[in-house]
Amino acid sequence: MKRAPAVILPAIAVERASARPLHRQIYEGYRDAIVARQLRAGQRLPSTRHLAAELRISRIPVLNAFEQLLAEGYFESRAGSGTFVARAVPDELAVPRSGGRPRQPPSRSAPRLVARYAASLRTDTGPWFQGQAAFGVGQPPIDAFPLEIWSRLVARIARLGDRSLLRYGKAMGYEPLREQVAEYLRTARGVRCEASQIMIVGGSQAGIELAARVLVDDGSSVWLEEPGYFGIQNALRLVGARMIPVPVDEEGLAVSAGIERAPRARAAFVTPSHQFPMGVTMSASRRLRLLDWAQSTGAWIVEDDYDSEYRFGSSPITSLQGLDRDSRVIYIGTFTKILFPAMRIAYVVIPPDLVPAFMAVRRVTDMFSPPFVQAVLTDFIREGHFARHVRRMRLLCAERRETLVAALARERSLRLGVLGDAAGMFLTASLPPGTPDREIGLTAAREGLKVLPLSSCALETPAKRGVVLGYGGSTNAEIVDGAARLGAILRRMVPRTRSRSR
Ligand SMILES: Cc1ncc(COP(=O)(O)O)c(C=O)c1O
Repeated sequence: MKRAPAVILPAIAVERASARPLHRQIYEGYRDAIVARQLRAGQRLPSTRHLAAELRISRIPVLNAFEQLLAEGYFESRAGSGTFVARAVPDELAVPRSGGRPRQPPSRSAPRLVARYAASLRTDTGPWFQGQAAFGVGQPPIDAFPLEIWSRLVARIARLGDRSLLRYGKAMGYEPLREQVAEYLRTARGVRCEASQIMIVGGSQAGIELAARVLVDDGSSVWLEEPGYFGIQNALRLVGARMIPVPVDEEGLAVSAGIERAPRARAAFVTPSHQFPMGVTMSASRRLRLLDWAQSTGAWIVEDDYDSEYRFGSSPITSLQGLDRDSRVIYIGTFTKILFPAMRIAYVVIPPDLVPAFMAVRRVTDMFSPPFVQAVLTDFIREGHFARHVRRMRLLCAERRETLVAALARERSLRLGVLGDAAGMFLTASLPPGTPDREIGLTAAREGLKVLPLSSCALETPAKRGVVLGYGGSTNAEIVDGAARLGAILRRMVPRTRSRSR
């Protein structure tokens, strides 16, 4: 016998002691739920037998109520498949039930935090973040992710039936994964850490937000790279920071400019391995200068090391955290760029004295990351799949980067300056001052390309113009085709008279 699919029962309560008959209560419960659009057209309804059993009443009042609802057009029955909310709305529903003048909606002034957040969504609203297309920034080569290995590990862990993975997890994360991450960071990134300092979080964005909540009070000054990562800008806006844009040059954050603007800032949020969006690596002398400033003033540094696995040619540069002798750096890294973004697993390396504060804030947000995924990832690392994947991704991204650099070079007439191609999954093509890069981004989006305008990454009046081009998530063919199409757009839209600047 074919079984009807199980249906979620709507929250219709009946009071047996009420003077209103039961069938009337059920009828009104359903009618009100449909009028209030809690139940939508076409939605399947439970069988009368099932509903009666659930409400612990006899089936008769349920049958009577259903009959009336069918007769009035709220329900419709389909032969052989059951009863559904009607697709056509009865006339009565189109008329406001109170009659008379329509009520004024109550005022909905947004609470302070919501208003602040809405204001922060400045850059995210651009088409460059919607959907999948060539040059999308922050997209890794998921076409090369070993899904078969991952599925095998998922199945194995599910079969093992360890029900502790289904319980509430720990705020700091799944211990075996924290051990693996600590070992990896000490070895590959020169991070000075113990597993006890590692907190597993839902993506580096979650780590950035957590750090902002722990470190920054309403109104405290914070240095940000200018231009910089909108995710950092948004998180700091949300906690009410006074944002101090500090320019970035070819050596990274201009520390002396920061000291000039806000010597007593509470924190600096930086991307030293591969600055977003300029792509530069912070020089050793700037790193020492920044650490020196933090140590002498008691400021914190948040190091967002989001894509350092992708480093080509030059020897891997160790983390800023690894140079820190005073535990002033909060280090954030992620698996979302090297494995796949939907994984939402990243890690924060927390100075030991700040661990309780991070845990306290974590408990009021998402509490912990899903233990099951963490267990799968632990085995993925432990069995060597992660190390192999990193090696393959480096080669693949290097190839895609070369394809893009060569394709841009073919657009000789544009004489584009290419920045930041020594690492990561994106590069920046600089354009002459005053170029309408935002319009270029919008035009490119209409033509099926995701081109992030450099000016949309600035907090102040944008000094630099250009386009940020991701290549990690695009195939060689998409890159070649995309570069030719972008070249055509740039030839149309970049002013010709100005000299090209690097
Ligand atoms: C500079 C920077 N930091 C952080 C992130 C966020 O990464 P996640 O997916 O781990 O939240 C991105 C994503 O593109 C990024 O570009």
